[in-house]
Amino acid sequence: MEKEKKSDRYISGAEARRLRRDNKREMLRLEKRKKAHIGEGQYLARMKNDQNLVEFEDLNVYFFTDGGVVKSVNGVSFDIPSGKTVGVIGESGCGKSVTALSLLQLIQAPQGQIVSGSIRFKTNDFERDDSGSPIPVYEYAPDADGKPAPVLTEKTDKRGKPVLDPDGKPLFVQKQLISEDGLPVFEMVDKTVDIAKMPVAALQKIRGRDITMIFQEPMTSLNPVFTIGWQLDEVTLLHVPGTTRKTARGHSIKMLELVGMAIPEKVCGQYPHELSGGMRQRVMIAMALACKPKLIIADEPTTALDVTIQAQILELLRNIKSQVGCGIMLITHDLGVIAEMADYVVVMYAGKVVETGTTEEIFAAALHPYTIGLQRSILSVNKKVGRLQSIAGQVPNPINMPDYCYYRDRCKSAFSACGGKPPRLCKVSDTHSVSCYLYDKAAGEAGGEA
Ligand SMILES: Nc1ncnc2c1ncn2[C@@H]1O[C@H](COP(=O)(O)OP(=O)(O)OP(=O)(O)O)[C@@H](O)[C@H]1O
Ligand code: SF4
Ligand SMILES: [Mg+2]
Repeated sequence: MEKEKKSDRYISGAEARRLRRDNKREMLRLEKRKKAHIGEGQYLARMKNDQNLVEFEDLNVYFFTDGGVVKSVNGVSFDIPSGKTVGVIGESGCGKSVTALSLLQLIQAPQGQIVSGSIRFKTNDFERDDSGSPIPVYEYAPDADGKPAPVLTEKTDKRGKPVLDPDGKPLFVQKQLISEDGLPVFEMVDKTVDIAKMPVAALQKIRGRDITMIFQEPMTSLNPVFTIGWQLDEVTLLHVPGTTRKTARGHSIKMLELVGMAIPEKVCGQYPHELSGGMRQRVMIAMALACKPKLIIADEPTTALDVTIQAQILELLRNIKSQVGCGIMLITHDLGVIAEMADYVVVMYAGKVVETGTTEEIFAAALHPYTIGLQRSILSVNKKVGRLQSIAGQVPNPINMPDYCYYRDRCKSAFSACGGKPPRLCKVSDTHSVSCYLYDKAAGEAGGEA
């Protein structure tokens, strides 16, 4: 093995100072972009395929550290079709969570920054009047002639008390339509936004409403000093204008019922530490569902749970997806979970997507040597396995990535073309893409000049 030079592993004091200075300048520039007051027109986008809910395109997310720039997400492109579950797999540190966190711009700042690329997301926002207020949808009922007439109701204040006119008579206003969930209805408008270009202030409308996240350990996401009911109510109060604490509580109870909680009224009065891990995860799912999201990101949602509870939570997620009709981005190390839950699979390696396809394509006809390696490293009840194989070697150093295929140093199928530029993701069928010179014949024969 070639002896590693000391200079390859260390940087001089002058280089470290220059690196810190350059990093600071770049971080400040990107932070400023996030806080800029820009108009909506600057981040509205158009989906490439209208069937998609999310389109990642050439996304680059870097961490500017004192040791160098960590390219955690390095040119990632894949889609999440509306209402489908997309499973994301790959070894630890390959960029799964950072990709998911980018969708909400929740990467640890200022070091972590979306440097370039697009994250197009189909959202629906409130239609607003000239003063910027959401426009309510009113209730109509047939009058004596059978024509629709506005329904009137007593005007109430924030505490639900009737508002009186100067003569002491109750004031009447047009009644706002209430949804099946018990929440006021407003006029909505479909929009496609590029999350990578959105300022954080504008993103607040999407976070927790259209895109929600279920984390691995619910105890770290729930606030230990507030009751479950209070925390659930807050989501509705924050995102649905015109909701009162009372209607929000009614909605929270419905959400807890939906996730299979017995006696939800009692759970509302409890604190997170009084619940078991499985119950806490159900609360997290109820919270994620509170505003009928379009996308749920589930980052290792069952890793902290026992196997039996895992099965219950996965079943719950599946049922909820069919009821709410949302898309799910499911991140897990467990290929069994992916096989059971996902419609499409994205395989990531060292910050890049190396293979994407339908679940059948990835499990029955995986092409990339890394995907095949991952599958050989798990037990199967259907097949007799002699010895479980691990993938030899290590992921390259993210600060100093090679300028050839990132998997080459571990790949048993490597051949002459693999020393060229890192291979591009190329289609082998309408739904199946792989980034490997074995399947990009033209580039492979040209000596890896993709
Ligand atoms: N705050 C940070 N500072 C520096 N580097 C970071 C930071 N957060 C993540 N990274 C780097 O980004 C890369 C991707 O991390 P990420 O958390 O996305 O991995 P992952 O695929 O989710 O792994 P796991 O399966 O273990 O959760 C890793 O190399 C990690 O070291
Ligand atoms: S491009 Fe070459 S080194 Fe990379 S995965 Fe394919 S065969 Fe292996
Ligand atoms: Mg992770």
